[in-house]
Formats: sequence, structure tokens, C-alpha cells
Amino acid sequence: MKHALHQNIAARQATVGVVGLGYVGLPLALAAETAGFRVVGLDTDPDAAQNARQSHGLRVTDDYADLADADCICIAVPTPLRRNQEPDPSFITAAIDALLPHLKRGALLVLESTTWPGTTRELVAAPLQRAHNWRIGHDVFVAFAPERIDPGNPHWRIDNTPRIVGGITPACTALAADFYRALTTDVIEMHSPEEAEATKLLENTFRAVNIALVNEFALMAHRLDLDIWNIVDAAATKPFGFMPFYPGPGIGGHCIPLDPIYMAWKARSVGYHSRFIALATDLNNNMPRIVVERLAALLNDHQRPLKGTRVLIAGLAYKKNVGDLRESPALRILQLLQQKGAVVHGVDPHVPPSTGELPCDMAAVTPQSLSTYHAAVLVTDHDAFDYALLAEALPLILDCRGAFRKRGIQGPHISAL
Ligand SMILES: NC(=O)c1ccc[n+]([C@@H]2O[C@H](COP(=O)([O-])OP(=O)(O)OC[C@H]3O[C@@H](n4cnc5c(N)ncnc54)[C@H](O)[C@@H]3O)[C@@H](O)[C@H]2O)c1
Repeated sequence: MKHALHQNIAARQATVGVVGLGYVGLPLALAAETAGFRVVGLDTDPDAAQNARQSHGLRVTDDYADLADADCICIAVPTPLRRNQEPDPSFITAAIDALLPHLKRGALLVLESTTWPGTTRELVAAPLQRAHNWRIGHDVFVAFAPERIDPGNPHWRIDNTPRIVGGITPACTALAADFYRALTTDVIEMHSPEEAEATKLLENTFRAVNIALVNEFALMAHRLDLDIWNIVDAAATKPFGFMPFYPGPGIGGHCIPLDPIYMAWKARSVGYHSRFIALATDLNNNMPRIVVERLAALLNDHQRPLKGTRVLIAGLAYKKNVGDLRESPALRILQLLQQKGAVVHGVDPHVPPSTGELPCDMAAVTPQSLSTYHAAVLVTDHDAFDYALLAEALPLILDCRGAFRKRGIQGPHISAL
């Protein structure tokens, strides 16, 4: 079985199924098509399916029976947190339950969703063995391969970002590595799915902790009247042992705020309480409040209370050059400002007014419209913003990303976080 699938992958004769056509699954499906595979995408959300079909020409279904002849199936469904901040694996479980009756013998099943170490074994391999009397590693193959996509990054793409794979058995790892070598330049084979799962969580915990560290350093620098941006830039000239992270209004998206909590949750089950993760989460979650306090202090210098003040939030998405609002710190800043009685509008070139539910009224980017605001908070430093126009038209700007200074635009009315 292993040899047959190996040959099929090598000859690009394997059919690839991708379950979940969101930020991760859709680019993966398109990359598999580009690599020469026949691809079938599956999504239970008609909008996601329609987008994949109409905008990208992908073969799409919402019926798991259509994956019956798929040789390699990748699962990229969400892994959110529950209200009580515990992992919610229900999307994985639902996808596996629906898929298993249609899975063909000899197939490779790969979980890509970010999750705690042990998930692939517990929620993919175990149900598969209960459903079919097949031997994993002989009759069917199961692996974990974390997605490393960086939305909006034109340099690091699927085809040049190394991939991590870890299978239930060495044969599973080898086949998953075969598949991903067809999509990218480098594949790192791990000893187990757990190692691969934990690798992904380390990558994102590393980011969360270092962002928290520089945010705390920024708070200390502010009190000492030191310029954190100059300090980070200077430290970054050290050619070894330092990697620059920049302060900001908090963290967002589907990954950095959530993934460390998956690791901490799993560690708790074996009696270990992570302190770094708890501290980083706390520091990063507090940044929107700091932003609002900083804005209130700036307005205070101009004899203005937040109440009744017109504030523009420039950049609603959680990171630059994307339109993803999930967990965006802008939403929390917006909420805190509204609670203080400010009149808050947003502007974001990547979040078109046609977007379903917008968190606030959107402003027009014209000198006339911009000049009606008393202050603006630059939350997300999209390249598409006309920074010169913003600096000219807005009377007061709190720049949470150091975006104006980076472009050489300065003035007494522009303050960096
Ligand atoms: N977005 C990123 O930058 C990124 C990067 C690396 C890893 N990840 C991880 O990848 C996974 C997917 O994230 P995403 O950002 O693509 O999420 P997403 O919400 O954009 O897409 C998930 C898709 O899965 C679909 N879906 C849900 N349940 C389904 C089911 N039972 N059957 C079929 N389709 C189903 C949804 O309709 C949705 O279209 C998560 O675990 C996430 O943590 C995301």
C-alpha cells in the first residue's frame, strides 16, 4: 500500500482532498493543484465553497462521499478556544466523523490544524482504528503536518517554506514527507505526530512571548522617557543572538493568541503550570487598554476628554496587509473607546465596506472626512495607507506600529506607542 501511494504521489496521479477551505486550506488546495495533483476541496460553509470555486476555479464539494477516491486528505478546520479558554476540538471531530465512512483503504490522512500534542493520535488515528479494521502504517497512513502559512507575506509562501511532518509510524511519516516534498522545497521528518504538533506550538509561543517581552520593554521605556523603537532598531544591528520584535497594540488572528494556550492546557494535564505563557497572554491582552490610556493622556494635553471625541481607528485587521478581523486588538480598542463615550469610526483598505458585519462605521479617506476626527489610532500598519495624507489631515495620531517614523513622517501631533 505504501509503495503504491508513494508511486502515485511521485507521478502526481494521487487525488488530493482538502477539508476546510479557509485561510489555510484554500492556499494548500491551490498549491496541490499547481504541483500537478487532482484536487477536491470540501467545505461545509457554502460561502467558503463558493469562494474557492468561483474565485479560484477549484473543484469543490460539501459531500464527504466525494472524497471516496482521494489518496491524500489534508484537514485544515478551525481549532478555536471555548469560552472557558480550553481547546475546542469539535471541528476536527466533526470532520473525522464525517470523513471516516468514505475514507479509502491505502489513503494518507494528514491533520494540519494547529492543536495540542496528542490530538492526531487521539482524535484521528484512534477513531480511524475503531471505524475500520485497518492497520495504520500498512493499510492506511496518518500524520500531522502543521501549516506555516504567513498570510500577507509575499516572500515566504507554501512553495518555499519548509514543512514539518510527523506520522503515527515511520511509513506514515515517509508518505506525508513525499506529499509535502511535492509542494515545497524542504520537509523535516519528526519522530511522531506529537513532536510535530509541539513544534508548531513552540513556534507560535515563541512569537507570543517575544511580542509580550518587547511590549513590556516598551512600557518601561515609556516611563523612563526612552524611545523603544530606536532601542529595538539598535539592538537589531547585533548580527547574532538577537531577533527584533516590535511593540504593538496587542496580538490577534487565529494563531498567536490561541496556540500557546493549547500547549499550557495540555501541560496542565500532566501537572505542569506554564508561567511564560500565562504572563505573555496577560501582557499582550492588556495592550489595548494601554493604547486607550495613552490616547486619553494625549487628548488630555489638548483639554479633551474621550467622551464625545471623534476617534478614527486606522487599520482594523489584526496584522498588516490582510483583512482578517479575528481576535484583532482593534476590536478591543474600539470597544474600550466606545465604553468611554468616544465616537469611533474605522478605516481599513483590506476590509471593504461590503464585508458582512463591520464592527463600526467606516470613514472615507479624503482630507475633508479625515479632518472631522479629533484623533486617530494607527492600529494596523497596512502598506496601502496614504501615511502622508493621514499625517496632514489628522490633528492627533497615536501610532501603535512606528509606521510614520519608519516612513520619515514626524510632527508634534504624532506619538508612537
Ligand atoms: N490562518 C492562519 O494564518 C493559520 C496559520 C497556521 C495554522 N493555522 C491553523 O489552521 C487551522 C485552520 O485555520 P484557518 O485560518 O484556515 O481557519 P478558517 O476558519 O479560515 O477556515 C476553516 C474552514 O474550515 C471549514 N470547516 C469547519 N468545519 C468543517 C467541517 N467539519 N468540514 C469541512 N469544513 C469545515 C470552515 O467552514 C472554514 O471555511 C486552524 O487550526 C489554525 O489554527 C492557521
